Amino acid sequence: MHNHHKKNLRSARWFAADDLRSFGHRSRAKQMGWDDGDFGKPVIAVINTWNELNTCHTHFPERVSDIKRGIVEAGGVPAELPALSLGEQLMKPSAMMYRNFLALETEELLRAYPVDGAVLLGGCDKTTPGVLMGALSANLPAIYVPAGAMLRGHWRGRTLGSGTDVWKHWADRQAGELSECAWRGIEGGIARTPGTCMTMGTAATMMLLAEALGMSLPGAASLPAVDAEHRRMARAAGVRAVRLVRDDIRPADIITAAALENAVCALMAAGGSTNAIIHLTALARRAGIELPLERFEEIAAQTPLLANLKPSGEYVMEDLHRAGGSRALLAHIPQLPHPAAPTVNGKTLGDNIAGAEVFDADVIRDAGHPVQDSGSLAVLRGSLAPDGCVIKTAAADRRLWQHKGAAVVFENAADLKARIDSPDLAVSAESVLVLKNAGPVGAPGMPEWGQLPIPKKLLQAGVRDMVRLSDARMSGTSYGACVLHIAPEAAVGGPLSLVQDGDLIELNVPGRELNLLVAADELTRRRAASAPGASAHRLSAYGWLYTQHVTQANLGCDFDFATNTPGSADEPAIF
Ligand code: FES
Repeated sequence: MHNHHKKNLRSARWFAADDLRSFGHRSRAKQMGWDDGDFGKPVIAVINTWNELNTCHTHFPERVSDIKRGIVEAGGVPAELPALSLGEQLMKPSAMMYRNFLALETEELLRAYPVDGAVLLGGCDKTTPGVLMGALSANLPAIYVPAGAMLRGHWRGRTLGSGTDVWKHWADRQAGELSECAWRGIEGGIARTPGTCMTMGTAATMMLLAEALGMSLPGAASLPAVDAEHRRMARAAGVRAVRLVRDDIRPADIITAAALENAVCALMAAGGSTNAIIHLTALARRAGIELPLERFEEIAAQTPLLANLKPSGEYVMEDLHRAGGSRALLAHIPQLPHPAAPTVNGKTLGDNIAGAEVFDADVIRDAGHPVQDSGSLAVLRGSLAPDGCVIKTAAADRRLWQHKGAAVVFENAADLKARIDSPDLAVSAESVLVLKNAGPVGAPGMPEWGQLPIPKKLLQAGVRDMVRLSDARMSGTSYGACVLHIAPEAAVGGPLSLVQDGDLIELNVPGRELNLLVAADELTRRRAASAPGASAHRLSAYGWLYTQHVTQANLGCDFDFATNTPGSADEPAIF
């Protein structure tokens, strides 16, 4: 009686058979308003990372309706599946701690329900890697819809960029150069519309990389959240999702070694967030692909920084859109490694960006006039970071790229907060500020504490950058000579845990090194004297799972038990 069902659809496992189980599934689908004509159509999940405390996704309800319109038009059945929304601004200790939670949830939603394909809605920092990691592991046909950035901020006729201009003006405020009234004005003017941070922070970076990976429609990454074209892109993604099911194109067909290298290249050309290194590493590992930190370094060395966007440059995402958008930016990278990589629209990345014009050559520079020649991010190693660490050279004072200074050590974030502005702190502009126990296990959740504040007395003396080190991350909107992601982290006994006040530390960005200039026997003595500390944190059940199983930054901070073979949604439904 139900022989019109397409047996090759995954959802047919739930709905097609003439047995008691399928009767149950069909009768309850009808309870939701489905009718006979819906069985046999591709069921497209809309993974919606929306909630009322995620500041950046407030337009998602409207976008979901745009996506559903596209799905229905193309002959699919939409099913909105809400997933954990990671709002970077309000979640503590960090949204990063929950990225893996969203990845698990996305995978399980797709795996457990009668779903044939998916539209993945993300944008605010960790949502993009979270949904992509989960969808890759499930490996059902999927397309990603980026939230889009908010419009520029305004204050007294000046443009304000998310994050970046907060740090700048906060430094002025700490130095006594900005009034309470001016500070309130900035507070009211910096976030004017729905959408993500509009600097090239982690959100804008990951949206761009999703496009470079081939997981979203061409040009999607730079559409402002409130642009009408964003609505049309969402609708088109719904249409496309149905087509992906019919053509059986899956995330593992798209997120290949070639696509990952394209994304690394886009990261460097955009002067994107250091966070992206962790997320791309995690994605590669879920795909079972080797993407060592050295590969980032090699691609960085060949790729000029072309996007003149804060925090490395001057403009914001709205300007990138006006100047030609993500397509134009990708099209102007001189050596995009793999233009023949396939994308979700059925064309190659090279086809999608071919002919994209630049309309403002100051925003999207050409390779002859880059913001920086190469190496917008650098991976360093050395005795203080045997498994690597990173620095965003493009956002650091060049004077500090080679620096030797005495350590001023903070044991954890509370210690930092308590002492950093103390008038008695023995610190100079040449000191190296060191924060321990802010990594994946130590914090836990590797928060964005890596842009250690400059001590107030130095700010008042006019200092605006100094060398800072930690096992934490840094907001993609931040800047400064901050060495991040030191691995292994202090909490698991990395050399960082042994650093003491006054130790000499040498940062050598051109040589790609970070060294602790303390004799080996002294370090051995210190290690013998140090007792492994019990966790000071009271952990929730998820917090426990996280600290027990999170990997270090150089391995992507995924769970050590996450599978590296995509396809968990392929397992046959037996009952
Ligand atoms: Fe959501 Fe910055 S807080 S993107």
